[in-house]
Amino acid sequence: MKSQFSTNANQVWHPNIWPPFTQIANSNPQIEVTHGKNALIYTKNPKKELIDGISSWWVTLHGHSNDYIANAIFHQAKTLEQIIFADFLHPQARILSERLSNLTKLERLFFSDNGSTAVEVALKIAYQSWQNQGETKNQIIAFDGAYHGDTFGAMALGERNIFNENFDNLMFPVKRAPWPSTWVNDENVEIKEKKAITILNHLLKKPTAAVILEPLLQGAGGMNMVRPEFIKKVYEVVKNNNSLLIADEVLTGFGRCGSLFAFQKANIMPDLISISKGLTGGFLPMGITLAKEKIFQAFISDSPKKTFWHGHSFTANPLGCAAANASLDLLENDPIKYLSFEEKHFFYLKKINKIPFVKKIRVTGTIAAFDIEIGNSKGYLNNIGKKIKDLSIKKGLFIRPLGNVIYLLPPLCITDNQLEKSYKIIFEILSDL
Ligand SMILES: Cc1ncc(COP(=O)(O)O)c(C=O)c1O
Repeated sequence: MKSQFSTNANQVWHPNIWPPFTQIANSNPQIEVTHGKNALIYTKNPKKELIDGISSWWVTLHGHSNDYIANAIFHQAKTLEQIIFADFLHPQARILSERLSNLTKLERLFFSDNGSTAVEVALKIAYQSWQNQGETKNQIIAFDGAYHGDTFGAMALGERNIFNENFDNLMFPVKRAPWPSTWVNDENVEIKEKKAITILNHLLKKPTAAVILEPLLQGAGGMNMVRPEFIKKVYEVVKNNNSLLIADEVLTGFGRCGSLFAFQKANIMPDLISISKGLTGGFLPMGITLAKEKIFQAFISDSPKKTFWHGHSFTANPLGCAAANASLDLLENDPIKYLSFEEKHFFYLKKINKIPFVKKIRVTGTIAAFDIEIGNSKGYLNNIGKKIKDLSIKKGLFIRPLGNVIYLLPPLCITDNQLEKSYKIIFEILSDL
């Protein structure tokens, strides 16, 4: 079949591609990208350079086509590209496991393929670990507005909405506590937090296998931020009720929230942590679930029933591990990049804040967000975001608002000029609305 794409690249959907998270009946076709370098992506038709304002779905950590990571992958590809991880270990996985264990203080790493699988694995480990210890804990608790991925288990944990309602009958039940989102000058934050903790505490009176949360920031739910104090209280309540806390750091890990991992800002120690996205610097798909040694020990037995029967073909793929080790090198060599990002956002947001329909400005680390309160529908399906996205692409910035929530989540390598330009473009668009 002749590709429609070759004749009119930015007008027609490719006939062989089913794009993710997209209704092609009412979206613009994909734009072909020829290459990317640092914070910039280059498109073919029209020939344009765009600042990648959202790190290509939150994965690109140090910038596109980073030479150091690319070389590490190249070298690894010529050394060992893949090996069955049930029977063999390789140096990149060994080194990465030691480094991440050291950084998180969780001893055991289970490798998988992406953020959803890292969450699935955490949930399955948590659930089975109680059974292995002879306890029955069937309840799972998540938060309103959560998003943990698109595979069935991860989807069940997420907020039930238009994105998953077709599968409602197939998903297991999950109890929910409120998520006390906050923003600059929010006067009610303590009341909201108190209410959420009371509800969580009440839910936890029923035997609960695990509570899962996105520490500090719910991403897909609308860049909804909470205070570290709240995460700390959740941790204490979960501990007091003898359940397990899963920190889904798929988005928040690797400096995104201004500390290496978001849970560290709350000064807590989760029982399980799921990571992906920035793990390989955004170069290759890989997920990891980190678990406390105590949890791992519950799986050691002569009884086959106590084994964790889970694995993926590409478990601990050497190329992914090489990329992750290289990405960690870059993070460790230059932590100031993520430690000092917050103040840059606040500087530019001062001007945006003066626009009357801009509400709920919030920043955590490298991520800044605010709501646009115009139009009648709230949330992801509000069309204002689409309009702003199209206008900003025309002006040289790629962003992908979540409905009426505009956010920037740039790669760490973005220059001050590029960040200034990004905010200038957003300001111009908002001023003309
Ligand atoms: C917090 C969180 N968990 C899990 C996922 C799922 O990750 P993936 O898309 O790699 O399956 C995402 C993706 O956005 C996420 O933000």
